[in-house]
Amino acid sequence: MTITVVGAGYVGLVTAAVFSDLGNKVYCVDVDEKKIEDLKKGKVPFFEPSLSEYLERNIKEKRLFFTKSYSDSVSKSQTIFICVGTPSKENGEADLTYLFSAVEETAKNLSGYTLITIKSTIPIGYEDDLEATVKKHAKAKFEFAASPEFLREGTAIEDTLHPDRIVIGTHSKKAEKILLELHAPISGERITCDMRSAQLVKYGSNALLATKVSFANAISILCEKMETDVTKVMEGIGADKRIGNAFLYPGVGYGGSCLPKDVLAFIAQASRFDYDFELLRAVDAINDLQVERFVNKIRRILNAAEDKKNNLYGFEIAILGLAFKPNTDDMRDAPSIKIINRLLNLKANVTAFDPQSMINAKRILPQISYAKDVYRAIEGKHAMIIVTEWPEFSQIDLSKAKKLLKKPNIVDGRNIFDPHKAKVAGFKYIGVGR
Ligand code: UDX
Repeated sequence: MTITVVGAGYVGLVTAAVFSDLGNKVYCVDVDEKKIEDLKKGKVPFFEPSLSEYLERNIKEKRLFFTKSYSDSVSKSQTIFICVGTPSKENGEADLTYLFSAVEETAKNLSGYTLITIKSTIPIGYEDDLEATVKKHAKAKFEFAASPEFLREGTAIEDTLHPDRIVIGTHSKKAEKILLELHAPISGERITCDMRSAQLVKYGSNALLATKVSFANAISILCEKMETDVTKVMEGIGADKRIGNAFLYPGVGYGGSCLPKDVLAFIAQASRFDYDFELLRAVDAINDLQVERFVNKIRRILNAAEDKKNNLYGFEIAILGLAFKPNTDDMRDAPSIKIINRLLNLKANVTAFDPQSMINAKRILPQISYAKDVYRAIEGKHAMIIVTEWPEFSQIDLSKAKKLLKKPNIVDGRNIFDPHKAKVAGFKYIGVGR
């Protein structure tokens, strides 16, 4: 089948990589000329394990093409996947500017029956507007479907090839058949439904994942107050098969390109449908609180009064981990940004290290220093702060770290160290919920 993927972001590139690797001819269109030129040379604009190998292989085999031109791609395709971003507006609602412009450009170039499948996360209630936009510009017959994407950054290819489920939302039997055929080589349960339900599956899934994380974070607060260990408590809770242990790890809060924005967008669209999603407002509030509590732990370990302004003046702090999670260089809505900005407000001096995201971080946080590795980051500092659980951080040699640090303080936002071992190694240690 010939496919056009509109949008060369995370979802678009992974979709293009996987469908071309499965033997389809795939065009990937993006309005960003530089990005397209780089991609033609196999240069991926972000870090994602094995994605560049997939792209290179399929470019070489002449199954994958990058272009700025809708006319060169859409008109030759039977199926279009719309994979453009739907970022948050100030009020939390999803900004659909890119979506409508991508759909309009697609419509102008349709030739023959074409299925337009929306992979972007879009709020419920815009189906008629999308249909009207295409009708206004299209000369050919078309149908719509929604097939939301559930890939996680860091494991995107694996998640796309072996998803738990493939959700296909459309009123058209023909469209459903096309998408079922296209996904035939991919494993996972098939869930077929109408377009709105498919969109709700996406929002509901991300909202429930965020709810699990905030629940774990709320329990961690209680564990701190009750002097118990959240690790054991969550292990016990997650061992119930009905609950499961995934997404029950407390930390510095959820971040990334999806969970924070989708929770806010879901609250906003619920409100348009006259429902106050109080549960999700609490989920969002707990996520913010977790950052504030984390910064207070840093103040506490440094014996800096929590109620005084500017009271981290003169303190040198090493932040380990900037990306919103390991195995990505993505800084979108990373908790590190809020934590570091708060520390800077309190007049601390911050040095950071991250194995992948420092180039991106420098654009967002130009005021701090960056170190070449963990040990250079912590040298002469008053505290070592873990924000992202990169696997190499749990291999840190604690006795070497103690010699390098000015003060043996660890605030561990991801519970990567054993508190007992840290104490035996001579550290003052504060984790999350233990
Ligand atoms: C998420 C969804 O998992 C994916 O299905 C959707 O398509 C896009 O959004 P992603 O943004 O890549 O994927 O990150 P994910 O692995 O879900 O983690 C989200 C955030 O939650 C991270 O900041 C992570 O550190 C945090 N998290 C996750 C926790 O704090 N605790 C956990 O137990 C799990």
